[in-house]
Amino acid sequence: MLDVTEAFGPFPPRADRGGPRFSRDELRRLLLLTGEAQQELFRQARAARHAAGADEVKLRGVIELTNYCQKTCDYCAIRAGNKDLSRYRMTEDNIMGLAESIREAGIGTVFLQGGQDPKTDPLISAVIPRIRRELDCEVLLCMGEKPRAIYQEWAALGATSYILKFETSDPKLYDEIVRTPLAKRLDCLRWLKETGMEVGTGNIVGLPGQTMETLIDDILLAEELEPDFLSSSPFIPNEGTPLETISEGDVDMTLNTMAVYRLLFPGALVPTVSALEKLRGGGQLAGLQAGANVITINFTPKDFRDKYAIYSAKGRFIVSGNHALHIIEDAGLTVRRAHG
Ligand code: 5AD
Repeated sequence: MLDVTEAFGPFPPRADRGGPRFSRDELRRLLLLTGEAQQELFRQARAARHAAGADEVKLRGVIELTNYCQKTCDYCAIRAGNKDLSRYRMTEDNIMGLAESIREAGIGTVFLQGGQDPKTDPLISAVIPRIRRELDCEVLLCMGEKPRAIYQEWAALGATSYILKFETSDPKLYDEIVRTPLAKRLDCLRWLKETGMEVGTGNIVGLPGQTMETLIDDILLAEELEPDFLSSSPFIPNEGTPLETISEGDVDMTLNTMAVYRLLFPGALVPTVSALEKLRGGGQLAGLQAGANVITINFTPKDFRDKYAIYSAKGRFIVSGNHALHIIEDAGLTVRRAHG
């Protein structure tokens, strides 16, 4: 198990907040729920979301601006060294044009996502203030591990928030699959928090070698980090990666994790991710019913999108505005209005 005390010097110790909400045994039971008991968990998650005034669904528009990546995560096809993938990096004009389409669609958050690619850093610095000032949108970044000074620069330029998933709380498993130290990632999360940006994190369910105990640790780590957004996604065996023959993650276990995240952080933003829909038709609607309140709509043009091979090289589920609005309606929820 991860030594959280060592990893989180500057974070308030657990005892100050009264300790973890659920015991390991309770978490084990919650994660394994199926059938009517699982539905009851989801009802409680929805009730917690409602009581926190967090029922309105926030829309984000994502621009996948580069598929160059320094990292070699075993689950991801944009990993460095994958010679079968042709690489792209958008221009400032590409990005601003797409950001404008997001604004025109009435979406208030421009979500810039890409591989961990230092050459893209100046581009990010150029577009953050423009998206803030010219379009009056929030800027959410998911660009990987960066030096502390770069996080500070992006926050100072007006970036609103940053997502950096811890993926798994097991340092050994993380090292084997992500091939860099978990401690580095946790340092980055601490630096991000220091900048004052809102911070999102989360885990992947179903990585090979992951156990029930690891998943319990994931939730305890998430609780410890006190993020503003929390996500869980099922593992997808991605063509052309070292893990392509491993079986996919369990959708129900992912939904249960999301519901527990909601119970732990009633007012947080919890996305219902496209990977849920890829593995199970209706999976994203199920995510909303399990307590999620965020959907990311894809604005990456097809030519680029096809090369952005995270999750699946052969075909991700691409979330359209229509799909998002339909499932929000089916869940009996409404969209959070972006601009007044
Ligand atoms: N299965 C599940 N999640 C994945 N990610 C990337 N590839 C996969 C996969 N094959 C997730 C990681 C990463 C985010 C951008 O996408 O959690 O942080």
